[in-house]
Amino acid sequence: MTMILLRGRLLSFRHTPHGIDDTGSYYFEADGGLLIDKGVIQAAGDYATVKAGAPDDVAEIHHRPHLIMPGFIDTHLHFPQMQVIGSYAANLLEWLNTYTFPEECRFVESAHADRIAGHFYDELIRHGTTTAVAYCSVHKASADAYFAEALRRGMCMVGGKVMMDRNAPQGLLDTPQTSYDETRQVIADWHGKGRNHVAITPRFAITSTPAQMEAAGALASEFPDLHIQTHLSENHDEIRYTCELYPEAIDYTDIYARYGLLGRKTLFGHCIHLSDREADAMSEAEAVAVHCPTSNLFLGSGLFPLKKMRARENAVRVAVATDIGGGSSYSMLRTMDEAYKIQQLLGERLNPLESFHLMTRGNAEALSLSQRLGTLEPGKDADLVVLNAAATPAMALKMEVVKALTEELFLLQTMGDDRAIAETYVAGRPAKSTLRQS
Ligand code: GUN
Ligand code: ZN
Repeated sequence: MTMILLRGRLLSFRHTPHGIDDTGSYYFEADGGLLIDKGVIQAAGDYATVKAGAPDDVAEIHHRPHLIMPGFIDTHLHFPQMQVIGSYAANLLEWLNTYTFPEECRFVESAHADRIAGHFYDELIRHGTTTAVAYCSVHKASADAYFAEALRRGMCMVGGKVMMDRNAPQGLLDTPQTSYDETRQVIADWHGKGRNHVAITPRFAITSTPAQMEAAGALASEFPDLHIQTHLSENHDEIRYTCELYPEAIDYTDIYARYGLLGRKTLFGHCIHLSDREADAMSEAEAVAVHCPTSNLFLGSGLFPLKKMRARENAVRVAVATDIGGGSSYSMLRTMDEAYKIQQLLGERLNPLESFHLMTRGNAEALSLSQRLGTLEPGKDADLVVLNAAATPAMALKMEVVKALTEELFLLQTMGDDRAIAETYVAGRPAKSTLRQS
């Protein structure tokens, strides 16, 4: 019997919330039932009704008073940077050269990549993240380890072999031709296998020659449905150096546009210092700016104007992400806490409905994967997170005075971490409580 019935408080978003009182933006069921079969949600509603429509012998798991939501989605992180987290550097370029590039060299060894892949998925699940978009290293072995482990765990994952052919140690360089050939091989080996999606992944313009950018553009036109991921406008020194390397481009965004890399499926990490022209170009292309707040603060990169980007006449699509290991937490709750504080510093309000929408449906839409992910609707994949807003003594004490759902969400975001994740379901199976102890 693969069918299970979950009982809990259900929360799922219908659209982007237009304020903290936008009760129409979400679906909430105080005593809800979620019927799951073969990894897919069959029914969602009040418990009594869903139970009445389920087989008599259905296995039941009770989660009340916890909240059941669609699993969190992390739209930008680096699988080979698990041992880079917490590295002491003054800024992005120092951090890359001193810690990150040497560490990524180790992923030439399959055994190392395989070991870290196991820990990587354990951490995602521990933190309630059921889908993520990751950079592997330049080595094909790292992409093989990443996708093989996703397949074993039945997770919906996006990722790519990084393309980089200059301005890094020899052990991290490919060539335009090998990056093209190996990315094609990763696509052939992994794209569409299980729930895997391969992304074309030129690291950023600094580490790709024009010839490699052309190779990335060729892949993008041969595989127009694939995601593209890269970095854009994270740090002032980075921007200056990038524009020196591509003097013919009018700005950083234009570099990617010139090589056919600015489109609907492109995920641009950071985008902190975009000009109006660049934001307009992003908007027109419907490209996605991926906000990575813990990383932006940790590396001192700057304050991403999330609210302003969304409120522009030519709005920019926005997603949120941890950016491990520039980021300092695997938790999307911690991530949104920092996103909130950044908006505070910019004189903007990011309300908790908006935050929880972004982590779930919003990120699914940004990935063009909302036909399968991001809500609790029947027909969607049963990737879920179960949230306990009283997970620690301090949270439980605060919960004594919490009266509204929005207050509970805000508490989860402000004080929550992996301890607030009571369970994570991947394709309908409990995945956190069944993690091997290590
Ligand atoms: N820009 C190019 N590579 C990286 C990376 O690994 N992390 C971050 N934060 N920025 C980058
Ligand atoms: Zn990154």
